[in-house]
Amino acid sequence: MTEAILLVGGKGTRLRPLTVHTPKPMVPAAGVPFLTHQLARARAAGVEHVVLATSYLAEVFEPHFGDGSELGLHLEYVTEGEPLGTGGAIRNVASRLHSAPDDPVLVFNGDILTGLDIRALIDTHTSFGADVSLHLTRVTDPRAFGLVPTDADGRVTAFLEKPQTPEEIVTDQINAGAYVFTRSVIDTIPTGRPVSVERETFPGLLADGAHLQGMVDSTYWLDLGTPQAFVRGSADLVLGRAPSPALPGRRGERLVLAGAEVASDAKLTGGTSVGAGAVVGAGARVHGSTLLDGSVVGPGSVVRDSLVGTGARIGARTVLDGAVIGDGAVVGEDNELRGGIRVWCDARLAPGSVRFSSDR
Ligand code: GDD
Ligand code: MG
Repeated sequence: MTEAILLVGGKGTRLRPLTVHTPKPMVPAAGVPFLTHQLARARAAGVEHVVLATSYLAEVFEPHFGDGSELGLHLEYVTEGEPLGTGGAIRNVASRLHSAPDDPVLVFNGDILTGLDIRALIDTHTSFGADVSLHLTRVTDPRAFGLVPTDADGRVTAFLEKPQTPEEIVTDQINAGAYVFTRSVIDTIPTGRPVSVERETFPGLLADGAHLQGMVDSTYWLDLGTPQAFVRGSADLVLGRAPSPALPGRRGERLVLAGAEVASDAKLTGGTSVGAGAVVGAGARVHGSTLLDGSVVGPGSVVRDSLVGTGARIGARTVLDGAVIGDGAVVGEDNELRGGIRVWCDARLAPGSVRFSSDR
C-alpha cells in the first residue's frame, strides 16, 4: 500500500484575498477545491492512504473530504497548533503512517499542479536505494524556489532554498514539491519545534552523506502560489493542458457547473470556469477566468485572466484583466481593473470609479 503526506498548512499569503476565508488548497480550481485534483491524481497512481498536515483554517478540510471514501482513499487529518513548517509537519504525522521502515512514503506540497509520473518517482527512489528522492523541474527564473543541482547520475549535490545572491543561482533545476522519503528517514526530523524541510532537513541530510536523488521531469508543472498562477492553473485544468481525473465535466473552452446561468450570447473561452449559481449577463465575454460560486458578471462586461470570488458582483460593462476580486466584493458598472489588482473581500467600488484609459 502506498501512503502519502500532503502539506496543506501554509497561510497562502501571496494568494490573498483568495485565502482570507479559504486555505489555499481549498480554493476552487476548475470547479472543485484544488486539493481534489491532487488527491485524485495520487489515487490514480495507486496511493490509498493520505495524511493531510493542516494548520491554517484547518477546520474546513474534514467536513469537505470526510474519510476520503468518495475518492477511493483513506484520509486522515493532523492539525498543528502552531505551524511546524514543512519538515515539522512531515515529522508530526509520522505516527499515522503504516509503512515499514524501508518503505517509500510520498510527500506533496499542497499547491502544485503537475502531470508528474508519481510511479516513476517511486521507481527511481527504489532503484537508486535513495534516502529521499525529489521531483525536479526547470524554470527560467528559479529565485522563488529551492534550487537543486545534481551530478551526472542525478544525485543531489546541494539544496539552496530561495537564493539571495546571483552566485547562489547555480542551476535552473528546482524542487518541484513532490518527494519520496524512505519511511525511517522521517523519524530523523526533530519533533516539537518548527523545521523547514528545505532549509534544514535536506541540507542536513546532504551534510551527513545521505543519498538524495533528483528526477528531472519536464511535464506540466505550476506552483499555484500567486493569483495569476492560480487562474492560469484553473484554466489549464479546464482546457485539459493540466491532467486531472477530478474535472467535474468535459474538458474544453469552458466548464459550467450545474445551477449557473449564462446568457445565450455570452462568450466563455480559454478554459473559463463558472461556479454553481453564478450568473453571466448578456453579451459578456469571459476568457481564461474563474468565476466562483454565486458570483455575477454583468451584461457587456469583459473578463480576462481574472478570478471573481464567491458571491462577488461585477457590474455592467466593467473590464477585468488580470484582476482578483475577493469574496463578496461589489464592483460597480463601468470600471476598468487591470494588471494584478486585488480587490479585497466585501469591498465596494462605486460605478465608474477606476479607469486605466481616459475614455468613459
Ligand atoms: N502543515 C504545514 N505546516 N504545512 C505547511 C507549513 C506548515 O507550517 N508551511 C507551509 N506548508 C505547506 C504549504 O501549504 C504548501 O502546500 C507547502 O507546504 C509549501 O509551502 P509554500 O509556502 O507554498 O512554499 P513555496 O512555494 O514558497 O516553496 C516550496 O515549494 C516550491 C515549489 O513550488 C519549497 O518547497 C520550494 O523548495 C519549492 O521549490
Ligand atoms: Mg508554493
